[in-house]
Amino acid sequence: MSGVNEIRSTFLDFFAKNGHAVVPSSGLVPKNDPTLMFTNAGMVQFKNVFTGIEKRPYDKATTAQKCVRAGGKHNDLDNVGYTARHHTFFEMLGNFSFGDYFKERAIELAWTLITKEFGLSPEKLLVTVYADDDHAADLWKKIAGFSDRRIIRIGTSDNFWQMGDTGPCGPCSEIFIDQGSALKGGPPGSPDEDGDRFLEFWNLVFMQYEQVEPGNRTPLPRPSIDTGMGLERMAAILQGVTSNYDTDLFKALIEAVAHAVSRAPEPATMASYRVIADHLRASSFLVADGVLPGNEGRGYVLRRIMRRAMRHAEILGAREPTMYRLVPTLVREMGQAYPELMRAEALIAETLKLEETRFRRTLERGLSILDAESRDLQAGQNLSGDTAFTLYDTYGFPLDLTQDALKARGIGVDTEAFQAAMQRQKQAAREAWKGSGEAATEAVWFGLRERVGATEFLGYETETAEGVVTALLTEGAEVSELKAGQSGLAVLNQTPFYAESGGQVGDTGTIAGAGVSVRVTDTEK
Ligand code: ALA
Repeated sequence: MSGVNEIRSTFLDFFAKNGHAVVPSSGLVPKNDPTLMFTNAGMVQFKNVFTGIEKRPYDKATTAQKCVRAGGKHNDLDNVGYTARHHTFFEMLGNFSFGDYFKERAIELAWTLITKEFGLSPEKLLVTVYADDDHAADLWKKIAGFSDRRIIRIGTSDNFWQMGDTGPCGPCSEIFIDQGSALKGGPPGSPDEDGDRFLEFWNLVFMQYEQVEPGNRTPLPRPSIDTGMGLERMAAILQGVTSNYDTDLFKALIEAVAHAVSRAPEPATMASYRVIADHLRASSFLVADGVLPGNEGRGYVLRRIMRRAMRHAEILGAREPTMYRLVPTLVREMGQAYPELMRAEALIAETLKLEETRFRRTLERGLSILDAESRDLQAGQNLSGDTAFTLYDTYGFPLDLTQDALKARGIGVDTEAFQAAMQRQKQAAREAWKGSGEAATEAVWFGLRERVGATEFLGYETETAEGVVTALLTEGAEVSELKAGQSGLAVLNQTPFYAESGGQVGDTGTIAGAGVSVRVTDTEK
């Protein structure tokens, strides 16, 4: 049996031995991709290397990449705690070829690693390939000695990997393990493929195209390889357990939770321990990467994750802040592999403690309102949107926390009425707005604010970054373009420019894009 730390280093060492540069994980806030909320795959940091825009001093790399899938396109938050596999934070192990090797070597390396280094027995393994990818199917026959029966052809998006609406992409081949007939579920492509019996643990992507925009796909300069193995899954397989939460790393975290709340897990409370263990990892790694809890964007996703865990600590009987007490265990388990956790340990603990202290002030009151208002509801019914809004607005309960709290009883939330209550409040704020008198047109910001959201500040971590221009204004009105020589205001979705907001001076600098260069003379909040 191998621990998570050993499995991670076995993977990286294997690829290092085979000529790959071991590259550190990039941060969870992607600096080179303004369209992504969080890094959600190993290839994100290499996106521009695949397309040829960026050059690196190596053409083969391997990483253990921190990933978060909560908020944005890939969102697993709601499932965490209730399944054996979902996480908000996870590690993706990968090997990458930038125009060096392609399908054959990728399959060869993968097969050697899993059967020789990890010692998985070949009879338990099977793979999928993209429906018309005869080449990949032939290679699996040749390299692994598989018969057609163990090579399943899948013609849907499941076997064509795309990072998002744009970016590098290609057909893929996924490797599965059959965990035996004691578990329910059918092979990939069958109606009951979602069961636990056949577990996908490694995705090999044959990167061949770039999706430039919807409907427009061009070939990459050179065929490349991107792979992703879920470390938590591999650990479960190698440790002979059927839930990621039963692996050594999670067992240590769950034990720390049990110690902190002075209560041992039982089947009925297990989900709460899992939620706390999972969310502790996501929260700590996000704080280490410069995200702080807030009311918008990434900060709000972090706040939702933290508060969801804090409510589960309350369920387990905690009456004092608890999460921060788990940080030393996390740092002990993962700090060696991710030194940023050690560097940020004090900040992580303080941030968790402050957030939990704040939230605890309203938590009990909020829970008793939730209790009273849902007492008479039956499974299939909805909590009123107004109550959910009061819980959100006055008691700091994110909507998904309220939903999570009612989930076990099969009760939902009237989310339409919740949104309507939110709109009414915004409308009231708008009507109450008299302006500061500086410009009669200031009201334009209300509409913009609602449409494009707040700008994320990246300046604590970096002085250059990519961003999307979400609005342009000149002379107090929104415009669709600014011509050479004109000046105006540009709103960005994220920026490293520090904004003046009562006191300090706003940053100056440049913004550049294809064929444009803009001088930034001031930045305001
Ligand atoms: N980028 C591929 C994935 O995330 C490997 O599955």
